[in-house]
Amino acid sequence: MLHTKISGIGYYVPEKVVTNDDLEQVMDTTDEWIQERTGIQERRYGKKHLETTTTMGARAATIAIERAGISKEDVDFIIFATLSPDYYFPGCGVLVQRELGITHKEAGALDIRNQCSGFVYGLSIADQFIKAGMYKNVLLIGAEMHSMGLDFSTRGRNVTVIFGDGAGAVLLQPTEDPNKGILTTKLHSDGAYAEKLSFINPGAHGGYHYEKLGESVDLRYSDATYGEMFINEHMIESGQIFPIMDGQFVFKMAVQKFPEVIMEALATANLTPADIDMLIPHQANLRISQFVQRKLGLRDDQVWNNIQRYGNTTAASIPIALCEAVEAGAVKPGDLVCLAAFGSGFTWGSALVRW
Ligand code: ACO
Repeated sequence: MLHTKISGIGYYVPEKVVTNDDLEQVMDTTDEWIQERTGIQERRYGKKHLETTTTMGARAATIAIERAGISKEDVDFIIFATLSPDYYFPGCGVLVQRELGITHKEAGALDIRNQCSGFVYGLSIADQFIKAGMYKNVLLIGAEMHSMGLDFSTRGRNVTVIFGDGAGAVLLQPTEDPNKGILTTKLHSDGAYAEKLSFINPGAHGGYHYEKLGESVDLRYSDATYGEMFINEHMIESGQIFPIMDGQFVFKMAVQKFPEVIMEALATANLTPADIDMLIPHQANLRISQFVQRKLGLRDDQVWNNIQRYGNTTAASIPIALCEAVEAGAVKPGDLVCLAAFGSGFTWGSALVRW
């Protein structure tokens, strides 16, 4: 029976630090408001024209591959999770393949669009492929270049202050050791609230979902017979081309789903919260992570938080945090690591990993 282990892990965050004070210069916000509501002190932004979601993903992947002790050419499957892809299509999976110089044609690449839970979904997919004996070296990347698509006016302040850029990656391999690697993964979704945390335009929806939900949103489509729906001047001028978030609604759902899905994974593995050596929650908001910690009765040293320094890096947040925890010696061989995520969709999930 094959199991899946994490053989290599790496992360990359851009050099440029953007503090709350820096954001105060471009929009009506304060360091106090941001820290009190989210815990965030600063975030990183990639270099314009020089860095992208793909290039940051490649930097993290290179470290993960090296630490796994294999060569890039050994990678036989790539999974790339992001909500801020370089192109609408093709996805970052093939772009990172080119960036890394993985030239052999046996490799496959898959892009995941599961936002904050993209990494946990990717881990579960990789686990199934490896357990089935289909692939031996699966590269899973979570990366985001949020800074390219945020509204830097006061209009966008409720969303913009939260997000940061970065990338994390793991190299997954089979092991026959049943006491090592991924013990279980749990995945869930509920599309009822898709628009509560979303990035709708440009898009091919043509207003369909708003109509069905009975919501009136002025999209100003032209009456041309064909096309002219993907994006228009009005959407740009009215700021409909930026992410939308009903923060309080997301918060309420998140604090319910995080503990639920963690407990579900623990029950499957016959374990309890006390068995967790390190919880790595998706870094959505420090207040959400603190709530989850209290709900599960975990000590401070059982939870890794770094949102204070990086903001919410969405698909990248779990692998960045996990990598930092490993590098700091806070996750050691034999430790039980719990990964958990909740985000847009809504989608959420968890994974238990014996390190
Ligand atoms: N600076 C100053 N004031 C702001 C800012 C800002 N950056 N953003 C919003 N405000 C104002 C609002 O305009 C509003 O003003 P008003 O009362 O005059 O209308 C006031 O602050 C309160 O706004 P709310 O949106 O109600 O603020 P809330 O207390 O809910 O905090 C927040 C907002 C931090 C987003 C919170 O709802 C939250 O954490 N939600 C969870 C969502 C989350 O974590 N998302 C991360 C991405 S999703 C994920 O990864 C799971």
